Amino acid sequence: MITVVGSINMDLVVGTERFPKQGETVLGNLHTTVPGGKGANQAVAASRLGGKVAIIGAVGTDPFGDELAANLENEGIDVSGVKRVEGPSGIANILLSEGDNRIIVVPGANHGLTPEDIGNCEQVIGSSNLIVLQLEIPIPSVLRTLEIAHRNRVPVILNPAPADGFSDEFLQYEPILTPNESEAAMMFGENWERALEAHPNRLIVTLGQNGARYYDGERHVRVPGIRAEAVDTTGAGDTFNGALAVALAEEMPMEDAIRFANAAASLSVEQFGAQGGMPGRRKTTERMKDHA
Ligand code: RIB
Ligand code: NA
Repeated sequence: MITVVGSINMDLVVGTERFPKQGETVLGNLHTTVPGGKGANQAVAASRLGGKVAIIGAVGTDPFGDELAANLENEGIDVSGVKRVEGPSGIANILLSEGDNRIIVVPGANHGLTPEDIGNCEQVIGSSNLIVLQLEIPIPSVLRTLEIAHRNRVPVILNPAPADGFSDEFLQYEPILTPNESEAAMMFGENWERALEAHPNRLIVTLGQNGARYYDGERHVRVPGIRAEAVDTTGAGDTFNGALAVALAEEMPMEDAIRFANAAASLSVEQFGAQGGMPGRRKTTERMKDHA
């Protein structure tokens, strides 16, 4: 089983021709509300790809909380570790424009996921095949998860996003880290390339459409990306992480696992919404073969 410990948000998406400047008002051309949150997105990606997935997280007592929990359950995810926190659910304000996005996350209930809650899930975490973490929940809860997983020898994928929550303290638990380039620069400085050799097979830097790179202990590996007709790149990184989790839980070699994750991510950007377009197994394997 793959256990995702992370955020659950409702995404309030607004589209516009161009980003407004400071103090400016522009007219938008789209507004919808779709389930998101890095934790939830990664759980959905993994579940659609055939992983057996459980999520530990928190939603609010507002109507969004019901919708978000129901959405995860409909995706076949075990939600017995999702707690209700009095007050609003987490939301993400997502501005889509100029082929890009700008996101503001207001954590709401996600901040109510405490280290004690994580401790209460020790049994689930300790008996999982793999744990997936991001940084949209309180950092002490991230640390508690890392500590429990490490003690039980359960491997962890830690997606360090948003990267300002990253702490060097995480490294002692030897997670597999999956930053993009700017996150890698925030974690290890502008010369983050040098950090690759210090974390063989455990620092996977994603390069968007250019794929990903890592050091395998002997050589630097660059896994080529797959070009896609991007409609909405929101959640592409989450799809990558969810897919990587499925592949590594199945003990695929790292390079193949990254190819698989790239294929899934490239499919996900072809449809609107973080979870919209997240592919199933067959489509992903086909795309992987098309680009072998
Ligand atoms: O990674 C994309 C996600 O980041 C969105 O779904 C949004 O909720 C924010 O958490
Ligand atoms: Na999408």
